[in-house]
Amino acid sequence: MVSAEASPFASTGGLGDVLQGLPKALAKQGHAVGVALPLYPRVRQFNPQVVQHEMRFASANRLFRADVAHIERHGVQYFFLDVPALFDRPGIYGEGDADYGDNTLRYAAFCRGALGIAHSLFNPDVVHCHDWPTGILPVILNEHFRRQPALMGLKTVFTIHNLAYQGPVSQANAAALGVNGTFRQAHASMMRGALDTADRLTTVSPAYAREICKPGHGCGLDALLARRRGDLTGILNGIDTELWDPQKDPHLPGHFSVANLRGKQECKAALLKEFGLRPERMTRPLIGVVARLAAQKGLDLLSQNPRQFLDLDASLVLMGDGNPHEEDFFRWLAAAHPDRVGVKIGFNAGVSHRVLAGADVFLMPSRYEPCGLTQLYAMRYGTLPLVHSTGGLKDTVNGANGFSFEVHSWRSLHQCLREMTGAWGTDLWETKQQNAMTADYSWDAAAKAYSKLYDQALQVRI
Ligand code: GLC
Repeated sequence: MVSAEASPFASTGGLGDVLQGLPKALAKQGHAVGVALPLYPRVRQFNPQVVQHEMRFASANRLFRADVAHIERHGVQYFFLDVPALFDRPGIYGEGDADYGDNTLRYAAFCRGALGIAHSLFNPDVVHCHDWPTGILPVILNEHFRRQPALMGLKTVFTIHNLAYQGPVSQANAAALGVNGTFRQAHASMMRGALDTADRLTTVSPAYAREICKPGHGCGLDALLARRRGDLTGILNGIDTELWDPQKDPHLPGHFSVANLRGKQECKAALLKEFGLRPERMTRPLIGVVARLAAQKGLDLLSQNPRQFLDLDASLVLMGDGNPHEEDFFRWLAAAHPDRVGVKIGFNAGVSHRVLAGADVFLMPSRYEPCGLTQLYAMRYGTLPLVHSTGGLKDTVNGANGFSFEVHSWRSLHQCLREMTGAWGTDLWETKQQNAMTADYSWDAAAKAYSKLYDQALQVRI
């Protein structure tokens, strides 16, 4: 696998989580799995050992000499490409709100290096690339390396985790990278390169696979995806049930299971306190949010009618950052109603576990959601998801285990929130909670589906 992120080494969200769970599950099923990642400064704390000095490769008319460092973890071989000029920076994709201006060149060089690793250190049958930073790999492979015996039969699988981030490639960069064969069209991007050239395409839920073939969620690539529909599979992500275990999670003040939920009440009481809300709020439903404050997540709906929201007499704890306007709105809401709204701007793993465990309801009004993992974490912790029915949310949340609404508007969300407050304290709530907690979202099923897909890819004729 080739990716810009993998937890615990470097991650900004769901992609990193997937690159932690999936390789491990595949290794458990008997595959030899390697993961190539850039060596970001934060990786050094894991103490990777150099296994190859000065691997040479060229990209965009520059010659690189990169050390390759290695760690084995849970039966997975992680290889880190050390190119200080490109990756020795504080951020992954950028700093603050600003992306690094040379991201195309950074990740194109990384993909070259990853092919070098495949060639000299790992020799895979299939290269599985994830999201736009690695979209150019199948293009480079096709245009430059198909005649090398070691790479000739190599098959490529590309997974779309989020179609909205495409990694645009300018004509000048395409020429410098020597990939202008594929990138002749206007609106060229790393993502498009992979959609054109990878042997097999996947995305992270069946519903999102259908949605992106249509204009609404296709981000300009729907026609291309519709053409490749036969090669595109939606495979629902799993979750790491060891890291997200309500009986053992070290971040939690109390532990619980479906058979004994008392610890969940302890978690709720501690969470109210952590966010500065009064203990009396124990008797009202507590809504939790952990999300990037980006348009995708749809939390701006709450700012359309804060009065009506507060009239529901639910409490809200939110952790997230991103869009400065949304940050300001939630800061304001918490300052104006400190008795029932608590907000933390930023991200902290411990807090995220405590919100997911201590809340009664987990709110995810996403405009679109390729899979979504937090609703799955919430369910495992007996926290009922309340979601906009789209993409992976549609595939995982229903009336039996949570609440959902169809139209992305404050009106529909408000109606759904009322349905939720109406169900609060009833038997129906308990039934939903039991269904949510006993559903199986472990990685095993997904790993089997990917395994089958790799077999199919290997049968593609060269
Ligand atoms: C992206 C998507 C999210 C998905 C994750 C992992 O972050 O936005 O829906 O769960 O990738 O595939």
